[in-house]
Amino acid sequence: MQLGVRVCVAILGLFRQGCLSRARILPHCSFSSLPRQMSKWDSHETCSLPSPQDKPRVLITGGLGQLGVGLAQILRKQYGTENVILTDIKKPAPHVFSNGPFVYADVLDYKHLRELIVTNGITWLVHYSALLSAVGEANMALARKINITGLHNVLDLALEHCLRFFVPSTIGAFGPSSPRDPAPDLCVQRPRTIYGVSKVHGELMGEYLHHKYGLDFRCLRYPGVISVNTPPGGGTTDYAVQIFHDALSTGHHECYLRPDTRLPMMHISDCHRATVEFMQTPESQLSLRTYNIAAMSFTPDELAQEIQKHLPHLKVTYSLDPVRQTIADSWPMRFDDTNARRDWGWAPAFGLEELVADMLRSIEDMRVSQGLPVN
Ligand SMILES: NC(=O)c1ccc[n+]([C@@H]2O[C@H](COP(=O)([O-])OP(=O)(O)OC[C@H]3O[C@@H](n4cnc5c(N)ncnc54)[C@H](O)[C@@H]3O)[C@@H](O)[C@H]2O)c1
Repeated sequence: MQLGVRVCVAILGLFRQGCLSRARILPHCSFSSLPRQMSKWDSHETCSLPSPQDKPRVLITGGLGQLGVGLAQILRKQYGTENVILTDIKKPAPHVFSNGPFVYADVLDYKHLRELIVTNGITWLVHYSALLSAVGEANMALARKINITGLHNVLDLALEHCLRFFVPSTIGAFGPSSPRDPAPDLCVQRPRTIYGVSKVHGELMGEYLHHKYGLDFRCLRYPGVISVNTPPGGGTTDYAVQIFHDALSTGHHECYLRPDTRLPMMHISDCHRATVEFMQTPESQLSLRTYNIAAMSFTPDELAQEIQKHLPHLKVTYSLDPVRQTIADSWPMRFDDTNARRDWGWAPAFGLEELVADMLRSIEDMRVSQGLPVN
């Protein structure tokens, strides 16, 4: 067969397989088969969205990390315990099991995720699974798999099942060539970690699917999140949690960043509230699909000084981790969140003073309840 004829036959075959439709080429179409069901993309079938009165049915991936359990608690209060399903690949603590639905789910297992979404009538998907910045640098191949392949799986499912889809991005989505003080929503993004690269990829894929296929994609760039209960998952801002535990246990914290390293940070309750308020905002109010959110920015030295107002005996020494320092030096010092404040009324409740007072009180209560000494 001549080359031209062979090409025509191949294209006709693709039409038969449903790979080409009305001159659109489907993203996952291989020449031999369609790996996934893309019927809605292909047929212009419209989503029958739940009415605003319907309570959302929420599935949270990677829900047993620093952020998932707390978010589930808030959503369950608003929408009912059974309407929020936490998932992860780890074994939950007994109290997590008893507080509401938990299901094992690996974001790399597309078919199982689809089954969960279909059988539970899921309408919102919060995608928290990820390998964070420092851990990702230590295992690039795994970070690429979880953060990029895993994201493709959930994005495809969100599109296929008309879900409202939320994924957090991060200060790590910026790099040394981005404006750092402050970093606006839209600017050059050339991160130098696999974590950052995967987050920019997520922002762009989600926005592409929104503009091309109408996916209700929503993304917030979180600052470093500070919380008491769950240890942070290997990010560059983890020192700002550990220092409180050290202050109340040994009275000594060894910091892996330089004392003058300024980074944007946020109390976990502000982070959860921002996420819920953003998810509840009508689409018509959103001028962007990816927003920065800010609360405060501080250096290790400023944080230590604020803690020392309560605990003057706290001693901080510095032993730099070159990997985390290089990462921190490439990240924004401050976030410009003007657009979030204007479009959907974002406003943080915690500044540095409130954060320190709350963290010390909460960790002290926790240590006392566990019978541990308080320094
Ligand atoms: N915590 C922060 O300071 C912060 C800041 C910015 C953005 N974020 C983003 O928020 C999200 C949640 O962060 P976090 O701090 O809770 O992270 P974390 O590392 O504490 O938790 C991530 C969870 O993902 C799970 N996971 C790993 N591989 C998985 C897989 N194959 N399938 C399913 N689950 C898997 C882990 O078991 C873990 O429980 C992440 O996307 C992170 O990038 C967090």
